[in-house]
Amino acid sequence: MPTRADITHFGAGPAALPTEVLEKAAQALLDYNGTGLGIAEHSHRSEHAANIINTAKADLASYLDIPDDYEILFLQGGGTGQFSAVVYNLVGAWVTRQKAQILKDLGVADEKDADQDKLTEELRKAVQEKLKLDYIVTGGWSDKAHKEAIRLLGPEYVNLVSDARASNDGKFGKIADESTWNLSKDPAFVYYCDNETVDGVEFPKFPEALAPSADGTGPIVVADMSSNILSRRIPIKNFSLIFFGAQKNLGCPGITIAILKKSLLPPTTSQPSPTLLRKLGLPIGPIVLSYEIAAKNNSLYNTLSIFDVYIAGQVLQRLMRVFPDKVDGQEAVAKKKAELIYGALEANSDVYRIVPDKSVRSTMNICFRVTKGDNPDESEKAFLKGASALGLTGLKGHRSVGGIRASNYNSIPLEGAQKLADFIESFAKAA
Ligand SMILES: Cc1ncc(COP(=O)(O)O)c(C=O)c1O
Repeated sequence: MPTRADITHFGAGPAALPTEVLEKAAQALLDYNGTGLGIAEHSHRSEHAANIINTAKADLASYLDIPDDYEILFLQGGGTGQFSAVVYNLVGAWVTRQKAQILKDLGVADEKDADQDKLTEELRKAVQEKLKLDYIVTGGWSDKAHKEAIRLLGPEYVNLVSDARASNDGKFGKIADESTWNLSKDPAFVYYCDNETVDGVEFPKFPEALAPSADGTGPIVVADMSSNILSRRIPIKNFSLIFFGAQKNLGCPGITIAILKKSLLPPTTSQPSPTLLRKLGLPIGPIVLSYEIAAKNNSLYNTLSIFDVYIAGQVLQRLMRVFPDKVDGQEAVAKKKAELIYGALEANSDVYRIVPDKSVRSTMNICFRVTKGDNPDESEKAFLKGASALGLTGLKGHRSVGGIRASNYNSIPLEGAQKLADFIESFAKAA
């Protein structure tokens, strides 16, 4: 039977966690800090829980240099829950902004003094004529988010800025040139997925078409960073919202994190009342997906898994210990590991085909096919079997696309990446 030390797990999520974190967590599950009670048994309203939440927030802010005008929320429902939450919350914020503009245009200083029927009528008109949600679809996950927006609101409100498949023979694997993007004039938000876990496509940098202008104004940009958060520096200021599940680079499955610009929260922006949304024919989100409610309650509107936050906190503290230069240090290692693996694949291009275009290759999810032999399916099976025999596990591609996928998350050590690169070489030589 293999031990943890024998295995390098390249699974796409949940990902492996550092052994030292799990050893400490195992003890904390039995007895947290000498309290005689485990961390999963303490109340989420206890002082212990508050300390764990506040420390994890502070450490995440420090590690990624998140400015003070951003709120950090611990949520539930996974990245998938966020596909819906983004729509509910940001359409609500859009309605609030429209209302303020309409009141201004009507010359009304206080909403209470407005003709309510007229205000509702004007808002209804604004919804019908102007509400647009922009989606850039570059892979399976942004495709799902785009479909969820259509499901919740209706296709007439959702604009497909770009579908990467259109310029790549019907398959994901490229990001269409920004000059071809069909951005709306003033969308409620622009959504994209920074790293497509299934397709191995990562935005090489922040899209220029979405960059704020010199005065700092720009579109409301939302990014799904579920599979590349904490692996590279991000220009936080360019985003209004970044979300990610914990289970790849931060911790174990169970919590989802949102980094949200405070201007989208009260007192600057309050969500419209359910009554108003009903009148406008817009959906009312479940309270558990409300950023406003989560922020007001420091992520504790309902029972949160403090154990999951604890694990995330331990992972962050370890990252800070290992990388005094914080995310820049981790970014350098992530690149080095990816170079080792891509390098071995490129050196044996008669045996392997890297799936995505070179310009958008993901540092985190390395997707490739084994092409050698009369029966590539059998070759891929042999590759997986040989890898597994060496303790290199979790390499099977996503069920929707097949092939091989090496997820090069932060917990993969440099030696693990080297071991895989060596196997890629030796399998090619034997092929
Ligand atoms: C980029 C990305 N977004 C969203 C999700 C969905 O996350 P969850 O399974 O937590 O709902 C995943 C899951 O792997 C993902 O990789």
